[in-house]
Amino acid sequence: MENGSLLEKTKQLVKPQYNEIDNWTHGWPHITNVRDTSFQLAKRKGAKKDITGIIAYCHDLGRIIEEKEKLPDHATLSVEPTIRVLDQLTPALSQHDFGTIIGAIAVHSDFNYVGNKEYAKILRDADKVDSLGAWGILRSIKFTLKKDFVPQEEILKNQNNPKALEELAEKSIFILKKQPKSKEKYRLNLNKISEWIEKELFHLKSTYNLFSDKMEYILNVKKNFDF
Ligand SMILES: [Fe+2]
Ligand SMILES: [Fe+2]
Repeated sequence: MENGSLLEKTKQLVKPQYNEIDNWTHGWPHITNVRDTSFQLAKRKGAKKDITGIIAYCHDLGRIIEEKEKLPDHATLSVEPTIRVLDQLTPALSQHDFGTIIGAIAVHSDFNYVGNKEYAKILRDADKVDSLGAWGILRSIKFTLKKDFVPQEEILKNQNNPKALEELAEKSIFILKKQPKSKEKYRLNLNKISEWIEKELFHLKSTYNLFSDKMEYILNVKKNFDF
């Protein structure tokens, strides 16, 4: 059992839904990474673990609808299925927690966020952290170019094996750099992710402290991209 039955119940409700997604970049592995990163940030910020976890679990439910029906704005699309999940939780959440969860999910993919809600900041940062490091490189390649350059099973099998992920990321970059169209398209993405770091678009100081190695990794890939 995870900490508290609310979290466990939420997991049981959402996991089968994420397993319907074809594109692995927003499937269950992403959700568990965002959850774990959110927990780390919540601990530093003194935020509630169960609320942080429920937010992470529900934040991309809209990706399922987006993929099936080709609709834009998955953050807004996540709101309805999240309400359906929250309505099934017992004991029922307070109205305040309900609002906190929906509020954080609704703004999680906005380019700019000028609000001051701590839970929204935790989710936004944790979500972006999953695009950092070697895992982040592999995710963003698949997301941007709609294909993997190494076997998908290898990536997923090694989700928690940093050394193996680095090898897979290096191999993928090596192959994609030989394809001019892929290279140009991916360069734009790499620039965008690097900008989050260089322009300090993460909200929390803790994110920079905890994940500086993953940020460094991205900046290095960018630096060496043209060689
Ligand atoms: Fe999202
Ligand atoms: Fe996400």
